[in-house]
Amino acid sequence: MAKLEIIKIGHPRLAQKAEPIASITQEIVELARDMVETMQAAPGIGLAAPQVDRGIRLITVDLSAGEKKDELFILINPEIKEESGKSLAEEGCLSVPGIYEKVVRPELVIVKGYDLDGREVTIEARDLLARAFAHEIDHLEGRLFIDRLSPLKKNLIKKRLRKEEEKGLKG
Ligand code: NI
Repeated sequence: MAKLEIIKIGHPRLAQKAEPIASITQEIVELARDMVETMQAAPGIGLAAPQVDRGIRLITVDLSAGEKKDELFILINPEIKEESGKSLAEEGCLSVPGIYEKVVRPELVIVKGYDLDGREVTIEARDLLARAFAHEIDHLEGRLFIDRLSPLKKNLIKKRLRKEEEKGLKG
């Protein structure tokens, strides 16, 4: 297992649509394990393959951040089949460090995908778990959580990130 580098906002991969996985090779299985390790080390509650610079439809979600084995989801080609309700809560992203904003997400989602053995799985997720799946599946579409904010707010955040980057270069 190996920890992977998490790419940050501004990297073109984060704005690209990821490709479906056609077959679950050993490489995919190893990537999934490395993503789990990377997510837990961050620590974060979710990670999508584009965040480690792989343009494929693979996500990991774990609300317990490695504390409970049965809360870990590794999903291949995940899709939101149904959604209902709305919830507004603060969100962040490992690829957008230091930024936390309130984002509207569905209260409930039904997610379908495949596990690493190629078995179809259906998950009914509510609240924070629904939010985590929606956030990670957005990454597969090349969408960051700040893309769901108003254009004004998004521009303010981009300005702030640029300023921080300039400071970093000087310091
Ligand atoms: Ni994210």
